[in-house]
Amino acid sequence: MQNAISNSSLWRPWTPITQQTNSMRIVEAQGNRVRDAEGNWYLDGISGVLNASCGHGHPRLIEAATLQFQQLVHYDPMVSSHDPAETLASRLAEILPGELSETCLLNSGSEATEAAIRIALQYWRNIGEDRNRVITFEAAYHGTTFLAQQLSGLPFTVSEWAPPFPIDHVVLPASPRAVRTEEGADALIAEFERALRSGPPAAAVMVEPLLGLGGCVVLPAGFLARLRELCDRHGALLILDEVFCGFGRTGRMFGFEHEGITPDIVTMSKGISGGYLPLAATTVTSAIKESFTREPVAQGLRYGHTTGGHAVASAVANAVLDVMADEKLVENSATQGATLLEGLRQLESSPLITDVRGLGLVVAIETDTSESAAAIATAAAQAGVMTRHERGVIRIAPPLTITTDDTVELLETIGTAVAVASAADR
Ligand SMILES: Cc1ncc(COP(=O)(O)O)c(C=O)c1O
Repeated sequence: MQNAISNSSLWRPWTPITQQTNSMRIVEAQGNRVRDAEGNWYLDGISGVLNASCGHGHPRLIEAATLQFQQLVHYDPMVSSHDPAETLASRLAEILPGELSETCLLNSGSEATEAAIRIALQYWRNIGEDRNRVITFEAAYHGTTFLAQQLSGLPFTVSEWAPPFPIDHVVLPASPRAVRTEEGADALIAEFERALRSGPPAAAVMVEPLLGLGGCVVLPAGFLARLRELCDRHGALLILDEVFCGFGRTGRMFGFEHEGITPDIVTMSKGISGGYLPLAATTVTSAIKESFTREPVAQGLRYGHTTGGHAVASAVANAVLDVMADEKLVENSATQGATLLEGLRQLESSPLITDVRGLGLVVAIETDTSESAAAIATAAAQAGVMTRHERGVIRIAPPLTITTDDTVELLETIGTAVAVASAADR
């Protein structure tokens, strides 16, 4: 039957219904490139859904999935555990610092947020303290389950329903460019201090190491270390959302490593399985898990999903860690990212560009208007480079497998796209 509102029966998320027609269709992906239905190949400047960190069609990841499919697809996590999940949880405990050793495996970043908040709130009850207030950035994005969405104050995702517990949003006190300065850092930490002081004691502060969907805002050096210290002073748990930054995206295995801190809870998804299969993890300290042995919650965590920690997804995640080590992808992210950032910074002389910022292999180009960002992204796509833009910010986050030649191509194409958009703007 003919669909009255679009030429497709597929309801795509985050896309206005009236704009769902005539969209591009991606039919193939290999290495760092993707092909559309018309046969055009693109350099993938956005790693699929910001998750294809090992590139597309990696033979070792396909082999790991195939072998696991043949041996055991999955089994009820309530009845039994299985080797891929056990191995993954212990490998995460090895690569995460301090006492971060207890992992729940889930399917999506939103579920990881959901688990982190439920665990944090339940922890305070377990130890007999009445804390349920959560503090996040207004420009945060922690996902879109009902609870995760409540944490964001971003206009495009803000929830229409009241949250089940108090949430305070910290507004960036300056522009993304100004917030990176020493004064910006002081002003930002003062905002968090104010949020922690005002109102009842906070249960948790949840932040991303870099505000991904909130405009790729690079937080000032020293911010996370100072926030850790603030949380300790106020007794609040610090939750780091590594869904976007984790697994090498920022040039370190985890974004918080840039500051040498140890969070109380870490959420992960996207790069954990290289985007090959849905997977997420929430890792907490042993002290937090231990609190769940007490009455009345001695039955443990009352949260989980049928396919959480799916055996094939977990097997792929174990292979991702091997590939990352063998191909030195964290190191490549740092070196290629530095070249990319330095090259794109040359574009700041264009009147269309107001800021270029980044960390590792996530670089954002902020433009003067949403129209400029759209024009640059369109010109880049026509020249064979896929990027993503939202609210005037173009985001570039290629696979960590990007080569030096790919980086040169990216820089040349984006440079030409800015020139094309500038000429059209005159
Ligand atoms: C920082 C961050 N947290 C959480 C999420 C939600 O993850 P998912 O889309 O897998 O639910 C995202 C998704 O982009 C994210 O960037």
